Amino acid sequence: MLLLAIESSCDETAAAVVRDGREVLSNLIASQTDVHAIYGGVVPELASRRHLEVINPLVEEALMVAGVSKLQLDGVVATRGPGLIGALLVGLSYAKAFAYASNIPLIGVHHIEGHILAIQLEKHVAYPFLAVAVSGGHTHLFRVDGIGQYLLLGRTVDDAAGEAFDKVAKMLGLGYPGGPIIDKLAQQSDDGGIVFPRPLLKKDNLNFSFSGMKTAVLNYLNRLDAEPDKRQVGQISAAFQTAAVDVITQKALRAAKGEGLNRIVVAGGVACNSGLRRRFAELADANGLEIYFPAPILCADNAAMLTVAGDHYLQQGYRSSLALNAVSSWPLEQAGVF
Ligand code: KG4
Ligand code: ZN
Repeated sequence: MLLLAIESSCDETAAAVVRDGREVLSNLIASQTDVHAIYGGVVPELASRRHLEVINPLVEEALMVAGVSKLQLDGVVATRGPGLIGALLVGLSYAKAFAYASNIPLIGVHHIEGHILAIQLEKHVAYPFLAVAVSGGHTHLFRVDGIGQYLLLGRTVDDAAGEAFDKVAKMLGLGYPGGPIIDKLAQQSDDGGIVFPRPLLKKDNLNFSFSGMKTAVLNYLNRLDAEPDKRQVGQISAAFQTAAVDVITQKALRAAKGEGLNRIVVAGGVACNSGLRRRFAELADANGLEIYFPAPILCADNAAMLTVAGDHYLQQGYRSSLALNAVSSWPLEQAGVF
């Protein structure tokens, strides 16, 4: 089954062509970072406008790179939610029009479902596994028993991990998005003995709180006599990253043990973080667990990731109605209900 996939939930317009939910023929991402960087964060209205400008040429290019004509496609997959509603509507409306004009089925997929199944495009990971979804909008732990079978084990009670990385970067006067910049600085610096708190780590649940960690960085900066110099910025970045990585990995490990799962899949933009990858690899090794990270292009927002679930649901005979609406919030446990 040859599928066109479209993702536009936030600040990347993405289009992909994938065969059988496995073979990626093209996976293109038009980033809007330049549009939003001067504002230090995503401006929803500007995101929608940029999606509108680039979506048609991007889809044409995805088909061209894949060497596939519209007539060969068997279906269209698009992100239905969660995300910025105006941004989602551009991709979903385009997908609906495309499906109608081509007389092929449409399937709306959950964005996080896309992230946590992206690894299946690279290697087959057997079910069940623990999914650690860490992105700019989400920080969730799920038990995954199969496609469409997700049990929420824990989640952030405030900011998402990526959001905290971005906010700390902003406090430190670094650019946007801050996650990759903090990661780079942390690789080049020690933590200077700075220790930030690990909120909820000792609590007997699997939830996270990144807002407190971010506030601890702000309080630390407020206590300094002057603006931090380059060396201090590196140390604060390293100390923050260590604290964030510590909380994510410890809670994930606890969740895996509690559920008796020996496979962990880490997904979403923050899964690109080098410290997180290293620490997870060490812990997995020490605890006899298998750990999986998708390649960076499949961690960040992309369209190919949607086709694992999309292909599965279409094969099962499910179709989304052309009256399908985008949703800004949508619990993953309800994904797969069309
Ligand atoms: O999954 P994603 O591309 O979009 C959302 O669905 O949110 O994730 C974007 C988030 C941003 O907050 C970005 O700063 C963060 O992922 N991120 C990173 C790294 N690369 C991206 N955070 C930490 N370290 C990185 N290397
Ligand atoms: Zn995402």
